[in-house]
Amino acid sequence: MARKKPTRKSASRAASRASSSRAASPKKIPARKLAKTKAVKTKAAKTNAKAAVKSSARKKLASKGRAPVPVRPPRPKQRIAISHYRDEDFKADGLRAYAHYRDLGFADASSGLAQAHVIRLIGPCNPDEVSKLHYHDVEFQMVYVLKGWVKTYMEGQGETLMQQGSAWTQPPRIRHLIMDYSDDVELLEVILPAKFRTVELSA
Ligand SMILES: [Fe+2]
Repeated sequence: MARKKPTRKSASRAASRASSSRAASPKKIPARKLAKTKAVKTKAAKTNAKAAVKSSARKKLASKGRAPVPVRPPRPKQRIAISHYRDEDFKADGLRAYAHYRDLGFADASSGLAQAHVIRLIGPCNPDEVSKLHYHDVEFQMVYVLKGWVKTYMEGQGETLMQQGSAWTQPPRIRHLIMDYSDDVELLEVILPAKFRTVELSA
């Protein structure tokens, strides 16, 4: 069958149909370009997820790093205490009968936080009276040798000769004793708190 030769009018209608069909359908993206776009989108999603995880971890670390603010009890009221040297201030009213104490007045001034005194050990040393194992129930204790010398024994430390200028601490409840001292020995002792318990371990 012979094909009908298109007239000018039918050709124009066909062209018009083709044009309208192109306008209605979405633009076709080439397959290679589409794959590339998908890959970019996936990478971006992964990056966002990583950033979210990092941010969350940072927040966790930040919250862990923030230490809670400790609630401190109110400090007891303190005032200035000044003590100048006076020989008559050395008194036999302290812990040991073989010592004279010059109290520096810090116990009242610190509302009981600490006490400090200068100690003169009365010579000659009598080991039968002096060398008795004991401990003090304190928070802190330190001694400084102002004059002369004293030989001490502390558990874990053994015997030590402390001379003028020597200083040491005695941790809470450390068992100790005085072994010997010079006739002219003077010690500065600082103890926290001002009031504390002494436990004698040997009679
Ligand atoms: Fe002691």
